[in-house]
Amino acid sequence: MQPTDQGFRPLTARRRGALAGRVRVPGDKSISHRAFLFGGLAAGTTRIHGLLEGEDVLATGRAMAAMGARIEKQGDVYVVDGVGNGALLEPEGVLDFGNAGTGARLTMGLVGAYDFAATFVGDASLSRRPMGRVLDPLRLMGTQVVARSGDRLPLSIHGPRMAAPIAYRVPMASAQVKSAVLLAGLNAPGVTTVIEPVATRDHTEKMLRGFGAAIEVTTDAAGARHIALEGQGSLAAAGDLTVPGDPSSAAFPLVAALIVPGSDVVIENVLMNPTRTGLIETLLEMGASIEIADRRNEGGEDVADLNVRHSALTGVTVPPERAPSMIDEYPALAIAASFAEGTTLMQGLDELRVKESDRLSAVARGLEANGITYEEGRDSLAVTGTPGGRGLGGGTVVTHLDHRIAMSFLVLGMATERPVSVDDARMIATSFPAFEAMMTGLGAAIGSA
Ligand code: S3P
Repeated sequence: MQPTDQGFRPLTARRRGALAGRVRVPGDKSISHRAFLFGGLAAGTTRIHGLLEGEDVLATGRAMAAMGARIEKQGDVYVVDGVGNGALLEPEGVLDFGNAGTGARLTMGLVGAYDFAATFVGDASLSRRPMGRVLDPLRLMGTQVVARSGDRLPLSIHGPRMAAPIAYRVPMASAQVKSAVLLAGLNAPGVTTVIEPVATRDHTEKMLRGFGAAIEVTTDAAGARHIALEGQGSLAAAGDLTVPGDPSSAAFPLVAALIVPGSDVVIENVLMNPTRTGLIETLLEMGASIEIADRRNEGGEDVADLNVRHSALTGVTVPPERAPSMIDEYPALAIAASFAEGTTLMQGLDELRVKESDRLSAVARGLEANGITYEEGRDSLAVTGTPGGRGLGGGTVVTHLDHRIAMSFLVLGMATERPVSVDDARMIATSFPAFEAMMTGLGAAIGSA
């Protein structure tokens, strides 16, 4: 396929031999955003090693620079000189977050308690995503919001002279909402508490503690986590900060190795934080051969090398309570499920509808285009597999500006009988710029025709 008028970049994956080799996936996206945010805020110098140089994260870096942080790349290391807690400057221009929900929402929280105006813009995908989930708690703290269309970008916020600390129960399983409230709490007097009935990724809590914030986490009798942060304290630069490999990016070579016959791949240095390992847990239940080797601690996080071999998979039921620990991995799991014996039922997927695209619908349409049996529910997806992939493929998948839809369906095409195309691969650069090169290096056939 040729590039189209709108600048789309179609890409096609086709079946070839086994995948083999050792790879390192890029740095974790969640931790990379937070490294720029907290490094840019803390007083002193933070040296970030292994940062994900994806467009999403770089947008967060530019936003922090617009508010006074100094960010410089020295060799492979990002050196960040922060302003000090409470000392961000009013940005002169708009803050453009491109495709990045995490960058936009966390930064909204961060500046929501500042007595200045900040304007947030993003691409067509980000401009469709709900921001009310972050703006609602900010309003309780005194932030004013000007939005043209129903709490969506583009919008401007202006914090109060003195933000009110709040106790906020997060109504949906969202680490972004939790984090936004905590970041606003950094510039509010007294204690801001976030109550999280369902645990989500805990990078904000862990990293804020590493930057010296006074933060306490307790669990109540009902199992809800209470995260209490003392505002207006000092944040001290973290010195050297190492970003582990992103398990959400590792999902792609991982699933590819499982479904392409004869494959044997090692993925090095993958973050094994239990709030992020739901996909591995699920694939192991499906019978995947994943050896978790050399578990070690790096920069306060568990990491390991994953040795993955082609496997006969069996469908399973994935319980809804596992969703937060694998929320970004369902598209990749749907691809693995397409090769499993029997049906894989995924439940509790309501949050998938508000990602970079309506991922539940995008996955379902992609499966349909490639002859895969599925059933889409309001918040569930059932996929019935064809071990060996016979008769599958041959479709073109609409990616809706969603990097994970693009990568997942390219992985599908590596194992189906007929090639699989995606309409636009540009968004892959938001989280995994080296995806094509890495997969090609393992032996995959990906190309523009
Ligand atoms: C993220 C949280 C999740 C996830 C996103 C990154 C984060 O979003 O999907 O890719 O870094 O906090 P939600 O908080 O909306 O679930």
